Amino acid sequence: MGKMNFDEMIKRRGTGCAKWDGMEGVFGVENADDMIAMWIADADFFVAPEIEAAVKKADEFPIYGYKFGVDGLHDAIIGWQSRRFGFEAKKEWITTLTGVVAAVTTAVQTFTKEGDGVIIQTPVYHPFANTIKANNRNVIEVPLTENCTDNILHYDLDFDLFEEACKREDAKMFVLCSPHNPLGRLWTEEELKKMGKIARENGVFVVADEIHCDIVATGNKFTSFLAANPESYSSALMSSSASKSFNIAGLHAAYVIIPDEENYKAFTATSSRNSAPSMGYTGGEALRAAYTEAEYYVDEFNAYITENMNYMAKFVQENLPKVRITNPEATYLVWMDLTDALPEGTDVKDFLAKKAGVGLNAGGQFGAKYTAYVRINAATQKANIVEAMNRIKAALDNQ
Ligand SMILES: Cc1ncc(COP(=O)(O)O)c(C=O)c1O
Repeated sequence: MGKMNFDEMIKRRGTGCAKWDGMEGVFGVENADDMIAMWIADADFFVAPEIEAAVKKADEFPIYGYKFGVDGLHDAIIGWQSRRFGFEAKKEWITTLTGVVAAVTTAVQTFTKEGDGVIIQTPVYHPFANTIKANNRNVIEVPLTENCTDNILHYDLDFDLFEEACKREDAKMFVLCSPHNPLGRLWTEEELKKMGKIARENGVFVVADEIHCDIVATGNKFTSFLAANPESYSSALMSSSASKSFNIAGLHAAYVIIPDEENYKAFTATSSRNSAPSMGYTGGEALRAAYTEAEYYVDEFNAYITENMNYMAKFVQENLPKVRITNPEATYLVWMDLTDALPEGTDVKDFLAKKAGVGLNAGGQFGAKYTAYVRINAATQKANIVEAMNRIKAALDNQ
């Protein structure tokens, strides 16, 4: 057994937790006490004790005024990227923000202008399209191609479609979700090189959102876009954090790595124009502790959630012949298709909340045609996974 006990049941209701306390509002139920929350992407596990200690120490002195940056933070980020992914970043390439979505927004504002097109690979994390549209840019969708074997879904990029999109006159940026949320694709080095080459040849700036980079199923290895594409250093950036892998999203600590000096200056000038705050001190201490003291945590975490996701895939194969599901290569987000399991037009999120007592994300959030799909967050105790799958089966059997 590892250092962490991820089987320990933890009551998060009543702790101001968006995922567990927000269900009445989101799912339209009067009382969600008996529901299982498997929507928003955070984990139902305690953080590593090293992170808890760092946070407590950061807040020990009871004056919470302005502070300098966290000592050793840049070295911690450089060490992590180098050790885990072989990406050799330099101190002067790193800047911090409160979140990865803020980094995507800042990049859109910096490297495109109103009316430009920004490519995304749908279905994909919905704030990408939201921020592109909110900044008066156009979304260019490149739908990923769906395959299915024995009820297990798998998605690929059609490189012809991607190239066609990059060749459009208005295409100026590509926001890459790597690994991919919600499909759980872990892009291979070869795929990343190919995407990088096509983007470069067509003058398309790449924003690599690598927030899920640490979370890979047992046996898999993440490749960093910039490590795979040193030729893209002058036309790309990446953003990441420890929010997902170490469960510290509420501390708002993210970083951006921009190898090109002019791009770095332009990006940080936009942040400054927006008065966008860099990460807070406590979040910075948590990130530093995660990357320097708690590496074991992410490996134990990955092993646990891999078992959860294998269980879900097997459950569907053995019990739900009309359902299709991913068994993700990366992330703890599972994508499930109920097209053949429910009458056409059923509001799937509503059905599963009200008939199964399971709170999931509606697939339509991630791409307009995915209304019969849901996204399931598997970063919870195995007992919750077992109960949720049994409830989903009972609700489908009894409809
Ligand atoms: C791909 C992706 N990017 C960004 C975020 C959110 O990042 P942040 O809270 O740092 O803005 C998420 C959260 O689920 C995500 O899945």
